[in-house]
Amino acid sequence: MRVLVTPDYRTLSEEAAALVARAVRAKPDITLGLPTGSTPLGMYEELIRKHRHEGLDFSRVRTFNLDEYLGLAPDDPQSYHAYMHARFFDHVNIAVDNTRIPDGSPGVDANAKCGRYEDAIRNAGGIDLLIVGIGSNGHIAFNEPGSSFESRTRVVTLAPETIENAKRHFPGDADIPMSAITIGIRTILDARRILLLASGSGKAEAVERTLRDPVSESVPASALRLHPDVIAILDESARRR
Ligand code: F6R
Repeated sequence: MRVLVTPDYRTLSEEAAALVARAVRAKPDITLGLPTGSTPLGMYEELIRKHRHEGLDFSRVRTFNLDEYLGLAPDDPQSYHAYMHARFFDHVNIAVDNTRIPDGSPGVDANAKCGRYEDAIRNAGGIDLLIVGIGSNGHIAFNEPGSSFESRTRVVTLAPETIENAKRHFPGDADIPMSAITIGIRTILDARRILLLASGSGKAEAVERTLRDPVSESVPASALRLHPDVIAILDESARRR
């Protein structure tokens, strides 16, 4: 894994967006794997800026999001569908039909949809560049500690610390989902290239364990060390314990 340490979150976001922009320019019909959460917000802002001011063209880009809460309809403001539209898709020239996000709507047969999500990734020719954040417990997408490295898209129960972290994004009285649909660790490792982003001291221990501990299912992000083409972009505070 190559590691790039940037001085601050802004530089991390610019470096990440520059890497994604280079990949999109090199392959205009690229398939991207996309994360949500707080870490990629600056990268999305910078990609929107590049679209507006540098003509970065998303018209042929296809995307697959990594995960979605179970029990939230796409129009629920807390859903990752809503996040992706508000933070990125609605501000660039991407075709909505080219974007896929797991469907966690109440009442859907989520388990049945998981296999179809994997099929859709395969039919798109696989993911060329997958961008992923890291949880303070070392999770990638919603593959919590203990997830098999052979896992694929499935319904998972969120770890207590993941639910705790999610609380700040949910209004006081809202029900916080206990489960989610996530692509698996094998799905992530199948991507041709992976970009890992980590910002802030809250991630420093998880980053340290990812880079230094033995590769193990107890640290899901350590699986990335089994992949031949991963770059981690960290800011200073995520690099230090
Ligand atoms: C989100 C996702 C999660 C987050 C991780 C870090 O799509 O897959 O694994 O990347 O929980 O979240 P933030 O960036 O909010 O610290």
